[in-house]
Amino acid sequence: MKNFRFGADYYPDHWEQKTPEETEKRVRTDAELMQKAGLKVVRLAEFSWYKMEPEEGKYDFSWLEKAIEILAEYGIVSVLGTPTAAPPAWLVRKHPEVLPKGPDGIVRNFGGRHHDCQSNPVYREYAKRIVTQMALKFKDNPKVAGWQIDNEFGNSHWDLCMCDSCRASFQKWLKKRYGNVERLNRAWGTHFWSQGYNDFSEVFPPVKTPCGANPSQVLDWKRFHSDLICDFSLDQTRIIREICPKSQFITHNCMGFSDIVSYYDLSEQLDFVSHDLYPGGYWRGRDLTPSEIASELDGIRGVNGSNFWIMEQQCSVTGWENMGRAPKPGQIPLWAVDSVAHGADTVVFFRWRSCTAGTEQYWHGILPHSGIPGRAYDEIQKLTADMTPVMERMESALPEAKVAIVRSYEQGWAFQAQPNVPGLDYYGQLIKYHKAFYDRDIPVDFIGEDADLSAYDLVIAPLQYLSDEGLAEKYDAYVKAGGNLVLTMRSGVKDRDNICDDSRSLPGVFANLLGISITEYDPLGRARVPISFSTDCGKVSDFHSAPVEILAEKWADVVTCDTAEAVAGYSGEWYAGQPAITVNMRGLGTAWYVGTEPDENALNELISVIVEKTHILGKNSVKITHSVGVEVTSRVKNGVKWWFVLNHTGDVQQISVPESLKKEAGSIEDGKLKPYGYAVFSGPSDIEK
Ligand code: GLA
Ligand code: ZN
Repeated sequence: MKNFRFGADYYPDHWEQKTPEETEKRVRTDAELMQKAGLKVVRLAEFSWYKMEPEEGKYDFSWLEKAIEILAEYGIVSVLGTPTAAPPAWLVRKHPEVLPKGPDGIVRNFGGRHHDCQSNPVYREYAKRIVTQMALKFKDNPKVAGWQIDNEFGNSHWDLCMCDSCRASFQKWLKKRYGNVERLNRAWGTHFWSQGYNDFSEVFPPVKTPCGANPSQVLDWKRFHSDLICDFSLDQTRIIREICPKSQFITHNCMGFSDIVSYYDLSEQLDFVSHDLYPGGYWRGRDLTPSEIASELDGIRGVNGSNFWIMEQQCSVTGWENMGRAPKPGQIPLWAVDSVAHGADTVVFFRWRSCTAGTEQYWHGILPHSGIPGRAYDEIQKLTADMTPVMERMESALPEAKVAIVRSYEQGWAFQAQPNVPGLDYYGQLIKYHKAFYDRDIPVDFIGEDADLSAYDLVIAPLQYLSDEGLAEKYDAYVKAGGNLVLTMRSGVKDRDNICDDSRSLPGVFANLLGISITEYDPLGRARVPISFSTDCGKVSDFHSAPVEILAEKWADVVTCDTAEAVAGYSGEWYAGQPAITVNMRGLGTAWYVGTEPDENALNELISVIVEKTHILGKNSVKITHSVGVEVTSRVKNGVKWWFVLNHTGDVQQISVPESLKKEAGSIEDGKLKPYGYAVFSGPSDIEK
């Protein structure tokens, strides 16, 4: 992975002046300002198809070549985006069939972006052609460091498209998966509501129906759709790999926990993954909380367990039709350092200068519309000067996590098809568990269901709804060998086809491992039930001794302990006194079951119990003490640990740092960290308190 520390997303084509000379002059001004700000890389052209091919087969890369050349004079390298997220009007006019169709059968038109059908063979040909031309043009350009494929797969596209071409591709995909239509009928349970098929050609995507949808069909559609995007991308990565030298990398800008395409699968064709991070994204109506930012970053690192780029890092006010709040002084650098703290080795700011036209007029850049440097520019200039040297030293260092949370696209998709109760959100639950560790300064990795678990002391696998014997055996082996595993409500409910398991009681394939059975449950929805923790992990009668009221949310499994012991039980409802949370000692390890979604208090209590019981902190290293709102995290390489202390509050914060640590970056005086300030320290990775 090549790194350039800091950069910006740059659109020289948005600042065409009256003459080519004047345009070049503006690029030069930008390049000079970038250089002074310590920026060393730009991403260009990911929406510039029309500019590069204004008419079919008529290519013009001169403006791009010129910009790359001028930027290079100022020590700035370029990453080129392939422009397939914005096909030009001439293409759409000639081939309107490339426009995507929604589940409602309505075509989505030209005028925004991502108005393309990724299965359409005509569109695929045009996409391959423009990418081939770009690759041929820039393969020998030493100033082109690499490529970004398309832009944010899944963004603006969601479940599109369900056109005839996609229907035919889906049928082909199903045929490959099931071989014959009887197998498909079984896997989808088409005996229900007379849905049997005689032939694959009768099958539809999950289009809008008068009522309801088949959950197995929806799940397969999501699998298909993810595969389709990977395949669409593969057309492009193949071309670039074939034409361009290995030294030019290929990446894609992912979107955190977005699940339209499996990033695990997509990353197989990439050299590394990138992420787009907007902690103050206006569409949420609020900033991300610090732990949400951390979970998003840990999530992206988890795609392949390695360092990543931020390809778009917020650097000012965000907005389309409306705008979000302005980042506070210090917050832009803080958010960028936060990315680094969780494993980013290069941070590219979106965007260099606010555009005067189009949908994103109010998505502000480092420079405002006027192009006159202001606060964002100054803050970024200081940041790059401060952080670049230490980022060079810590390149490829990673957080050292002993706790992992399993993130599975398939489980998320199954819950999208059937949330089970309103408000149950697969990703929300992952993030909730992540926060419980974040609040304790315990680093967490997100891992896939296929990942090797042996490196972790504790694995949390929420909502293992779709299951099979293989998964149960894998978890069982991990626990028997000394691992600590937490499974939660709605686990072992279904097979991989999204059909309910009728061969045993819940939690299905996980019953032996967990030492429990569940014969009753109460889908709580918005109701809540108090729960109490047992003082000695076992006696149901002790359940009423909890000091604060803590609650079971969304779901209540009424658990019967077979070999397990109760950890917490319900203290309300008709199942008062019955276990809600259990632990089973198995082999050298422990298997925990959480039969509900604990509210934040309950989760805190539970994680305290687990952390204590499993000693996951081990002989923890240096302790930096701090107050709430300050984040402490670290990255490790070759026996050196870099500590990040991030003040996410608007107040001065007092922290206490052991003398053995050396300050590397940031500003801290007498242990005082400024509002939204950061500090980086280093020390040997194995020193003890
Ligand atoms: C995304 C896209 C960018 C831009 C920004 C702001 O992250 O990748 O092209 O649209 O959002 O909206
Ligand atoms: Zn389509």
